Amino acid sequence: MDKKVTVVGAGNVGATAAQRLAEKGLCDVVLVDIVEGVPQGKALDLMEAAPVEKHDGQVTGTNSYEATEGSDIVIITAGIPRKPGMSRDDLISTNAGIVKAVTKQVAKYSPDAVLIIVSNPLDAMCHVAYEASGFPKNRVIGMAGVLDSARFRAFIAMELKVSVENIHAFVLGGHGDTMVPLPRYSTVAGIPITELLPQERIAELVDRTANGGAEIVGLLKTGSAFYAPASSAVEMAESILKDRKKILPCAVYLDGEYGYKELFIGVPVKLGAGGVEEIIEIKLTEAEKAALDKSAAAVEELKGVLKNLKS
Ligand code: NAI
Ligand code: 2OP
Repeated sequence: MDKKVTVVGAGNVGATAAQRLAEKGLCDVVLVDIVEGVPQGKALDLMEAAPVEKHDGQVTGTNSYEATEGSDIVIITAGIPRKPGMSRDDLISTNAGIVKAVTKQVAKYSPDAVLIIVSNPLDAMCHVAYEASGFPKNRVIGMAGVLDSARFRAFIAMELKVSVENIHAFVLGGHGDTMVPLPRYSTVAGIPITELLPQERIAELVDRTANGGAEIVGLLKTGSAFYAPASSAVEMAESILKDRKKILPCAVYLDGEYGYKELFIGVPVKLGAGGVEEIIEIKLTEAEKAALDKSAAAVEELKGVLKNLKS
């Protein structure tokens, strides 16, 4: 394969992402984890599935970073997930240390890669990776908006009993309770859902979306969602690997766009071979902008926590 993607963290999200990348025939995959044997075992298992799944990609498992050299994309999922009763923000001190160490290693071996960050709390971990890598802002991208929008799309499809393929939806803001689902920009075959559903029902779907991660944690009890998160990270990777220039909501470094400076937060962007190729500024109503401001303030607060961790 002429493309190579490293996935750091061979846990639930990482291993599932590796599987999807390989089985879609997108690239060779290097799976890295700190636990000895786990990335090697999962990589071998995936290689043994290849004849059945009919792909010739190589999946390699390792505990060191030499084999990651020259990756086009690095997806960082290393860290701890939350358990019932924990918020994503409770993970910050442990995961900041892990993401910083991992990013330094991957940046050393793949200085031209695009980084897709998954570890939580997502927006704060993007800041950690941006700083630790020294990469330009177009090559550090957080995965959250694709997942949150996919959840909103799934709930709309279930409600209206239509194909998920007919549904587009946008969730902006930070990946937390303050995320901002945008019903006005969420459509079924081009028709805004505001024309198809009563306001109270939309409010319930919005609320379920904002609590979508917690709903899965409550059911699984021992960890958090991973199928939809892996699919979401792989959709972003595919747009970059194939230069598809998809418009997707991603956490990116804003430098004045939407009125925010030096802040990672979810907004619509164009993803192509160069990573973030354009930040799309859509018009927001006063209420939508106020909700986005609240979400940005929550990310700013986490930036403050990161600063205190350093001092
Ligand atoms: P998991 O516990 O199944 O896997 C995490 C893996 O990271 C483990 O295999 C662990 O050994 C590994 N790891 C820990 N420290 C490491 C290090 N220094 N170097 C390499 N590997 C290391 O967790 P899961 O479910 O895969 O979630 C991973 C992270 O992604 C969590 O922080 C979770 O909260 C986050 N997440 C974020 C989402 C988002 O929308 N941004 C969605 C789903 C999960
Ligand atoms: C989620 O939303 C845990 O952030 C992860 O499922």
